[in-house]
Amino acid sequence: MIARNIIVAPSILAANFARLADEIHCIEQAGADWIHCDIMDGHFVDNISFGPEIVGIVRKETQLPLDVHLMIQHADHYAPRFVKAGANSITVHVEPEAKHGIEKTLRAIREANCRPGLSLNPETPFDAVEPYLDKIDILLVMTVHPGFGGQTFRAEMMEKVKRAARWNELHPRKIDIEVDGGINAETAKLAIENGANVLVAGTSIFRAKDYAKAISELRGKK
Ligand code: DX5
Ligand code: ZN
Repeated sequence: MIARNIIVAPSILAANFARLADEIHCIEQAGADWIHCDIMDGHFVDNISFGPEIVGIVRKETQLPLDVHLMIQHADHYAPRFVKAGANSITVHVEPEAKHGIEKTLRAIREANCRPGLSLNPETPFDAVEPYLDKIDILLVMTVHPGFGGQTFRAEMMEKVKRAARWNELHPRKIDIEVDGGINAETAKLAIENGANVLVAGTSIFRAKDYAKAISELRGKK
């Protein structure tokens, strides 16, 4: 397995939105590498979160890369608005309900100088994303069903992480393998052992008293 630096991407879905700017400064100080923005439309997932205006506000508060996860229909239509808001990476879903032309959407994201990512729900087999791996920079393996924070990690998803890691071993260009949902110190360890290098975490960081401690524990440091 290729040893890579671990990237911790706190999901601001779990932040206190009444003091969002402070929360962003705090996770930045605590050692976050990226900021994960979960965008939900009430159609692709049964929840509504926030849109490009909020991402633009986050952009003004930090220099950290903004990792935008679109859990929405018609991601092709909305992606340019997130590019404009300052996203550094934009991940779209592969499921047919996401209703977009995957290759065309990924190409448009790259042409906008943004890193394209692809995600798959727990029910979706790895085979659904395999044909696109040479076109993306990030594979986001959902380790819970998308829509809500605070759910329990599904260890069976590690099979997909392993397959992505195997793909990386066989190809010179490495993709980031990101896990999202139920990530805490214990599940992060398992994900890293299986080949993940990007950890998204909402609850385990923002519900912790000490953000820096929570982030370093995700990296496997005490
Ligand atoms: C789930 C989102 C996740 C979520 C993670 O729909 O994509 O990013 O906010 O939250 P926790 O860490 O609480 O599982
Ligand atoms: Zn997410």
